[in-house]
Amino acid sequence: MSDNPIASCPTQNLTVRSQILKIPNLKLIEQVGEGGMSTVWKAWDTINQRIVAVKILNSEFAGNGGDVQAFRNEERMMEEIRHPGIVEAYDFNNGNGHWYFIMEFVDGYTFADFLKRKQHICEGDCLLICESVASALDYAWNDHGVVHCDIKPENIMINTNGEVKLMDLGISHRFRFVDPAAIAASDHVLGTPAYISPEQVYGDVELDCRADIYSLAATLFHLATGRVLFPGFDNEAMMRAHCYAENQARDPRSYRPELSEGFCQLLEAMLVKDRDYRLSSWASVFQMAQDVERGAKFKPRKSGSPSSLKLM
Ligand SMILES: Nc1ncnc2c1ncn2[C@@H]1O[C@H](COP(=O)(O)OP(=O)(O)O)[C@@H](O)[C@H]1O
Ligand SMILES: [Mg+2]
Repeated sequence: MSDNPIASCPTQNLTVRSQILKIPNLKLIEQVGEGGMSTVWKAWDTINQRIVAVKILNSEFAGNGGDVQAFRNEERMMEEIRHPGIVEAYDFNNGNGHWYFIMEFVDGYTFADFLKRKQHICEGDCLLICESVASALDYAWNDHGVVHCDIKPENIMINTNGEVKLMDLGISHRFRFVDPAAIAASDHVLGTPAYISPEQVYGDVELDCRADIYSLAATLFHLATGRVLFPGFDNEAMMRAHCYAENQARDPRSYRPELSEGFCQLLEAMLVKDRDYRLSSWASVFQMAQDVERGAKFKPRKSGSPSSLKLM
């Protein structure tokens, strides 16, 4: 870190913004991410004397009670679900008119960044990501009833110790251990078109861990092949493609012949369109990933219930 963090910001724009954004007890160092409603900064926490990440709600949303509530819920969810595979949140606050929360800084990069630099990720690393996310979300689902709802390469980071960290619980929802009446019709949760599960597109059922299982497989397909499941489709067509039986992505080995049959079978089983025929628990995903690591091949799936992946 330079002595003068603000001067080290990469562009003048950021310098100007970081001077406008004054947050009590934090020195903003550099912007590390930007979404539709917020920006994420690396910062120095002057009280606890440590590097942190701070997610700041953009000022245009700060006056809207619903947006602030949703932002607060994101932090609460993170604070509650403590797991080494999920970024830890420390504190939610308002200072100088800004709503923000402080969290563990992940010194590393997202898998979306990784894909920009490399065309694809090798099978062994994909399996590591699969197992890390499976064990984090197994905890989130089984102990807290939480579905992440937006698993994608942008929301999974790896730090310099090689630890995989899941982030962005912005649209995560609790579907268990709550009064069913509290699950409103408005809990129709849309994710990101390239990775969304069919049931999120339809919006007609309460979600469970199987929605995240589908999205993790769509993510792994992208990481392993460098292509999304349905390339060249616009967002709406992509969302329909997850649902329609006739839309099936090509065998990952047609892009990367070195991928193992077991790995492709794992993705096929996670990508079954009808969730009643999909791999149905994180424990079974984890177990199957471990079997693939040991070189296992599985019996071919019975046809009948289509997967978004068609194996050769
Ligand atoms: N704790 C963190 N440590 C380091 N970088 C982070 C952290 N949280 C977020 N980022 C970066 O900021 C980006 C946006 O954060 P995210 O929480 O996904 O926000 P959004 O809701 O806008 O998608 C991430 O893709 C990542 O690059
Ligand atoms: Mg995100």
